[in-house]
Amino acid sequence: MRSAVLDDDIARVLISEEDLRRRTRELGLQISRDYQGKDLHLICVLKGGVTFLVDLMREICIPHSIDFMATSSYGDATETSGVVRILKDLDIPIAGRNVLIVDDIIDSGLTIAYLRRILLERQPASLRICTLLNKKERRVVDVPLDYIGFDIPNEFVVGYGMDFRELYRNLRFVGVLKPELYRS
Ligand code: IMP
Ligand code: MG
Repeated sequence: MRSAVLDDDIARVLISEEDLRRRTRELGLQISRDYQGKDLHLICVLKGGVTFLVDLMREICIPHSIDFMATSSYGDATETSGVVRILKDLDIPIAGRNVLIVDDIIDSGLTIAYLRRILLERQPASLRICTLLNKKERRVVDVPLDYIGFDIPNEFVVGYGMDFRELYRNLRFVGVLKPELYRS
């Protein structure tokens, strides 16, 4: 069975389940303080950001709402094409809301920069970005990140929501995929 060998495809654990839980708790606390008394609206970028959103929102102890957006992904490749398409738009209008985008990983920054631009046009009261992972070295466009879980090296990671060819999202940790798997 495919799932039985998932761990064999992982070169090493980069961020353990415990470290993910600890950092998510810290971020939730910080966000709760920063948005105290404000109308907080979380926007999760599907699908990779889902696991992080679900854990993060349960660490946020102030009232807030959530919504989802989906953009085109890399398909089968591990690098962005630079072309971003909206596959699913928001259900709830964001004008006048304090919006926090929740994403899994910022790599080139192209996807989030585009998303930020189109969401700003809808005139939210504020717009900030929270990402679990940040691959700084790979950035090609400058984009302000307000909350960062972990800065990570330039390696392709999977788990905790993140995939390669739609697999590995269920791993409880963030792991580095064996390079031979995606270079072949
Ligand atoms: P960017 O536009 O290059 O910043 O890529 C953004 C999206 O690509 C992320 O939100 C992820 O969904 C995906 N991505 C980038 N790097 C990785 C990775 O190492 N593993 C899994 N997905 C990734
Ligand atoms: Mg993403």
